[in-house]
Amino acid sequence: MSLPPKIIVAPPGPRSRDLSTRLSAAECPAFDARRDAREETSGAPQSPVVYERGESANVWDVDGNRYVDLVAGFGALIFGHAPRAIEKIATEQEAKLGLALGDVYASEVKVELCEKLASLFPEPGARVMLGLSGADALTAALKTVALSGKSRVVAFEGSYHGLSYGPLAACGLSSNFRAPFRDQIGDWVTFEPYPATPDIARDVLARLRALAKSEGGKAVGAVLIEPVLGRGGVVEVARDFLRDLRSICDDAGWMLVVDEVFTGCGRSGAFSRAVAEGVLPDILCLGKGLGAGRPISAMIGRAHMMAAWGAHRGTTIHTATHFGSPPSCVAALAVLRALDDGSVYASVARKGASFRDALIAACAHRAVVRQRGLMLAIDLGTSARVLSASRALLERGYIVITGGARGESITLTPPFDIREELLAGFATTLDEVLETLDERGAKARA
Ligand SMILES: Cc1ncc(COP(=O)(O)O)c(C=O)c1O
Repeated sequence: MSLPPKIIVAPPGPRSRDLSTRLSAAECPAFDARRDAREETSGAPQSPVVYERGESANVWDVDGNRYVDLVAGFGALIFGHAPRAIEKIATEQEAKLGLALGDVYASEVKVELCEKLASLFPEPGARVMLGLSGADALTAALKTVALSGKSRVVAFEGSYHGLSYGPLAACGLSSNFRAPFRDQIGDWVTFEPYPATPDIARDVLARLRALAKSEGGKAVGAVLIEPVLGRGGVVEVARDFLRDLRSICDDAGWMLVVDEVFTGCGRSGAFSRAVAEGVLPDILCLGKGLGAGRPISAMIGRAHMMAAWGAHRGTTIHTATHFGSPPSCVAALAVLRALDDGSVYASVARKGASFRDALIAACAHRAVVRQRGLMLAIDLGTSARVLSASRALLERGYIVITGGARGESITLTPPFDIREELLAGFATTLDEVLETLDERGAKARA
């Protein structure tokens, strides 16, 4: 059972500080550089804690502090840290067969997982490619687009698809991600504004209709979209946008690639948000929650879209050593079985809505709250305010993360089975934190 926070030494404690110093000396300097920049922006310290163990919605740091984890492995730990039933079968599988031989000799559990994922796709005959990360699923999707003979992709500002080279090119969240690598990633993506409001949606649809009729439209193979921006700050597409986009793609002969690495597997209250809204993707990408902490992702494509892979003769053109590893496959099968009866989706939707209401009741006068299922963003207006609030929350025992295109939101992706008292406790603490920040701000201005 998850417990409330218990801070016994101000974080980061001495062991966290020591380990962080050692990490700084050994790890790529990018992460320290980001922390330094954040300290400069906010004036709040950003020195990290180091995790020791996790159970359900709690993590403990190496100094013995207990936190309520509202990020849960960037949303991947849908059943919390160390979910007992899943870990048991995955470890048993590890002891029996830890690695098969990828695309050469499969394991039985990989067969079962591919069948299960294909059966969850709304159209019969769908085909599956497994990967390790969300970016792998997107890479497979983008390669499927290239195999159609038309490589250009329309993607959206504010969206995130992973940072390996294919997905990176389509990452609209921040041009900073792409800029240093521009020469290597090429120029095959056109960005549209994310259609968050009816006005933007209408303009985007009009431009896409015009593109479809133009010469340029002939080079486009797909439109790639997140139905709700995850890292981009829990922003949803305007009503009916996906349906209209589906019809434009049908008319133009473009694939509709839906990235549900964040929203899928229950996080947004459905197996697939697009499918729940009555829209059939040509390609659906899943990751994060699919393995409940084990590294696994999947790309599921409609039969005729995937046919080009079969037409290719000779060497395997997409595989990796650890793709479809048996322990990850059994974990994913267990996740999908747990999601099967739909009660998890209903509970995520209900719990998310009541958490949103608690946050609004506690701090609507200081923040804007956006929510879909158990993905929530608390918009504080500036990244400096978010960084200061996140630090104060860490010091009070809550793990949160920044989100949004400008880092202006706190993003929360708690485990599905988190106790509601813990969410209520967070709402109250957030209100106190924001009040203190605002008072400090007012004093500094006076
Ligand atoms: C919508 C979306 N797609 C793809 C990815 C990339 O997943 P990964 O970090 O596992 O590569 C993410 C990660 O946050 C995501 O939110």
